Amino acid sequence: MKFLNIISTLSFLALSVNAGFWDNVNRTELFSIMEESVPEMRITLPEKKWKKMIEEGQVVEQEEKSETDYAANLKFIYEGKEENYDISFKFGGKSTATFTKPGYNIKIKGSENTLHGTKNIRLRSDLRDASMMRSKVTTDILQKSGLIATEVGYTELYINDEYMGFWVVSDSIKSKWIQRKFGVSEEQTKPLYQCRADFIRLDNGSAKQLCVNANEEYKDYMEPFNNFVDAVNAAKTREDLEKIMDVDNFIKYLAWEYLMGSWDHFSNVYGHNIYWYQQPNGKWVIIPYDHDIELGQELWTTYCKGTAPYCDYDDVDFARVPYDQFETGHPIIRTLVHNDDTKFRECLGDIVSKVFNPDTILIQLDKVKKLISPYVKRDRDTLAGRINKKGKEIIYTYEHFLGNTEYTYVHNIVNTVRDYGLKDWIRRRYEYVAAYYGINTEATTSDKKHKLIEPRPEPVILPYNLTVTSEKINDDYAYLTIQPPLPKYTPDKNYADDRVPVIGVNQYLLSKSENPSNPSKCWSEAFGYKCCTKGCKTIVNVIENGKYWGAENGEWCGIPDNCEFEKDECPGIKYGYECCEKCDVVETDELGQWGAINGEWCSIKKSCNKQ
Ligand SMILES: *[C@@H]1O[C@H](CO)[C@@H](O)[C@H](O)[C@H]1NC(C)=O
Ligand SMILES: *[C@@H]1O[C@H](CO)[C@@H](O)[C@H](O)[C@H]1NC(C)=O
Ligand SMILES: *[C@@H]1O[C@H](CO)[C@@H](O)[C@H](O)[C@H]1NC(C)=O
Repeated sequence: MKFLNIISTLSFLALSVNAGFWDNVNRTELFSIMEESVPEMRITLPEKKWKKMIEEGQVVEQEEKSETDYAANLKFIYEGKEENYDISFKFGGKSTATFTKPGYNIKIKGSENTLHGTKNIRLRSDLRDASMMRSKVTTDILQKSGLIATEVGYTELYINDEYMGFWVVSDSIKSKWIQRKFGVSEEQTKPLYQCRADFIRLDNGSAKQLCVNANEEYKDYMEPFNNFVDAVNAAKTREDLEKIMDVDNFIKYLAWEYLMGSWDHFSNVYGHNIYWYQQPNGKWVIIPYDHDIELGQELWTTYCKGTAPYCDYDDVDFARVPYDQFETGHPIIRTLVHNDDTKFRECLGDIVSKVFNPDTILIQLDKVKKLISPYVKRDRDTLAGRINKKGKEIIYTYEHFLGNTEYTYVHNIVNTVRDYGLKDWIRRRYEYVAAYYGINTEATTSDKKHKLIEPRPEPVILPYNLTVTSEKINDDYAYLTIQPPLPKYTPDKNYADDRVPVIGVNQYLLSKSENPSNPSKCWSEAFGYKCCTKGCKTIVNVIENGKYWGAENGEWCGIPDNCEFEKDECPGIKYGYECCEKCDVVETDELGQWGAINGEWCSIKKSCNKQ
């Protein structure tokens, strides 16, 4: 049967028209604003207070970071508009507090007030990231994959009218954020735990010592978390884990970590920069934060803490390190991924199709780069905002920005780190996972391109012991090249997978949106898709993870869950075919058995197969 292919190709094409990167993603207004232009944040506070704050900002160790809150005013200027907010203003970040350009946290005062939807805002210099785009691109990937994530944009900052440089802005995971993202009450945010310290693991119990309740007021409320850690450690199977956590959702975050090459979250040695939250349905979910060190940032063999075989090589292409060598031997990952990686592959395949492919993400990357380039230039040319004179200095020039957002692998000799060019990492990782997990890289149509090949082909393992050549630019920097360099690539503007993500998305939110307490809504609205106007009479276009999709006016729509298509006498009726009168089968495919009537396909009755 060719018809499904034709139908899905047609609807993919219809959907690609005018489809933007953020279609079907529910973004917070502040970050939609920042996607279009770079606003100014002008903070004012009494000069004496600001002087005092600078004094407190002279720190070498992260433990010295001042926790003092200062009352201040924020003028937010965007698209020719100007708004004023009362805020509390303080230093922010962990290791970033020890940099010359330390981070700040802003809280919008007034219990119901927000800055376009966001209550707690983090300003970070992301000095470690020559591209200044890692925080943005990684969280864009999370959101576009249907995963709950912090959101990122940019601003120019002024304090008491002094230009302080260009900043990465993100929202901050606090009670208010959880209330907003999960649609829960303040009380229901009590079991929210932050794992921030270094070297945290579930399996050796260190999580119980090092993770803390995210809300200072509930700091003694650790029991649910401790029980969770014990339950994970006692779990032997996926079924055991399903009782306590949203398993597929967790697996999808792991797939994302792997694609990012993230060594600063769950899978790897540090095991931190994550929150664990127990939702009102009792299931735990993970939420990562802090994304300045991803996409091949600061990965090299000197960082090898484990006993992975790649630690023996001088030159490694980390984009080709397989997941079982990349993660640091977590039993939960063995149970959920290594023992049977079907679901991991499915989740990874979904992220690749939706966003982590050299078409979708490279186009988004170019768009962001174009928006921020002039601001980065001003920042790099002035080296503004470096108030911590004792702080750790990391200097990247505008040239580094231009190169590192493309293919230039920068070796910072002073700080002894190496950072992949963003596009180089993305394309190399994509190439590796496509070979290993079986992803179609050759197809030209959106319905096949960047999709998992079924049945799964034998994994092809590309070796990671590649030669890396180095070209010294000066005493401080060298440019590295992994041999052989990648061939040129022009992203395909016609490629898009803007279907609402279903695989590995949060089940609690999904079931909430299906709750028929509001009959005018259906499950697909939660993902930004209308319900099909014909309800159960809609012709089914695609069935994905038990969800039935139709199409109207060139857009996907959701078909209600209670249509009982499985009771149809002929399984093909829901696809718009008639029942055959006779039982003569002409062809059989994954959708059922087919006959022919007057030159058209018809669906064979189930009763034909009885006896
Ligand atoms: C748990 O593992 C981490 C990371 O390997 C290590 O640093 C820590 O000391 C261990 N903690 C315990 C209690 O064994
Ligand atoms: C990588 O390792 C393989 C197997 O040990 C070896 O045959 C090959 O020459 C190595 N390649 C490089 C570039 O070192
Ligand atoms: C989108 O997000 C906003 C604010 O976070 C929320 O109020 C709204 O209910 C969300 N819409 C959907 C369909 O989830």
